[in-house]
Amino acid sequence: MIELSRTVESLAPSGIRDFFDLVMSMDDVISLGVGEPDFATPWHIREAAIKSIEDGYTNYTSNKGMPELRKAICTHLDKVHQLNYDYEEEILITTGVSEGMDLAMRALINPGDEVIIPTPCYVSYYPTAKMAGARVKLLNTEPDQFKLNPEKLADAISPASKIVVLNYPSNPTGTTYDKSLLEQLAELIIKHDLIVISDEIYSHLTYDLQHIPLPTLPELRERTIFFNGFSKSCAMTGLRIAYATGPEKIIGAMTKIHQYTMLCAPTTSQFAAIEATNHGADAIASMKKEYKRRRNLVHEKLNRLGLDCPLPDGAFYAFPSIKKTGLDPTTFCKKLLTQQQVAAVPGTAFGPGGEERIRISYATDFQQLREALKRIELFLQSL
Ligand SMILES: Cc1ncc(COP(=O)(O)O)c(C=O)c1O
Repeated sequence: MIELSRTVESLAPSGIRDFFDLVMSMDDVISLGVGEPDFATPWHIREAAIKSIEDGYTNYTSNKGMPELRKAICTHLDKVHQLNYDYEEEILITTGVSEGMDLAMRALINPGDEVIIPTPCYVSYYPTAKMAGARVKLLNTEPDQFKLNPEKLADAISPASKIVVLNYPSNPTGTTYDKSLLEQLAELIIKHDLIVISDEIYSHLTYDLQHIPLPTLPELRERTIFFNGFSKSCAMTGLRIAYATGPEKIIGAMTKIHQYTMLCAPTTSQFAAIEATNHGADAIASMKKEYKRRRNLVHEKLNRLGLDCPLPDGAFYAFPSIKKTGLDPTTFCKKLLTQQQVAAVPGTAFGPGGEERIRISYATDFQQLREALKRIELFLQSL
């Protein structure tokens, strides 16, 4: 008889993938489901990847990632955010933020350590923390406009608390944090000697406010692992490339796990990432402009339909309330899919706070999005 790891057995499969197996089996579906750009990777970035293969760069790189890429990212962070990281010891190139998240949890957690995760949140935080042996405390941010409330964080912190996970702009809510809130959170983080895993993968997609990287706050650099990557900003999800920066001690421990489990991030993707870092600004800006146009459309229309939807500050998700329909999110999404062939994700997939909501990704062509919103209107009229 095969006995699995009890931790793995206790984890529920991702609520998103589950749902999308159903979507894949149907025709003519407009998917507002998956969190990935509808754009292809900008051509000059693809060309850099292709050229690297033509030139024969198909071997392993340094475990840490190519020095050229590490240098390019550190130079970029310094130039744009005055964030100074040593490219030799304080950055690791990973196979997506997903891998980096897992490495950070495993590098830091001892049995019984507590990880605080504000919810609704990206689906991998809870499982990666649990698989690393952590106790997890989920903090529902729904009553606080999906922002982590400093008073509630203070109440949640216990002597076992070690890590707080932050993600802004957020998947699935689109919420971001302004300077004043970040400063209030920073005060608590310093006071209680916590480490922050700060997933800022949507930082480039912040529409109205200025994005403030967490390690730019006083005394936060030495206790923050800063995650960013190319999947969302440069439409490079399939290339699986990202980075983590942070204190040498933590990055060193993450690198140790990475060298045994991953060896290095894909070489071809590292070449693409060098091009994206050095020359991607215009492409990023033009995709952002289009996402903002879609955000405005989705936000305006959903509210007009009576689905109360906060204005997303960033990322490419809207998280409207479906409370007035009287349906739970899974029933709502299944009916919407079967009756109008529109796929959205039940808010429950993202943890406490999503019980009355659905997630709509507007990383979808503008006309398709219009059509999907029309179908949602028809669906609501049919209820
Ligand atoms: C908040 C957040 N973090 C990380 C990821 C995964 O990023 P990557 O493709 O770099 O692994 C996603 C993907 O949806 C995300 O929404």
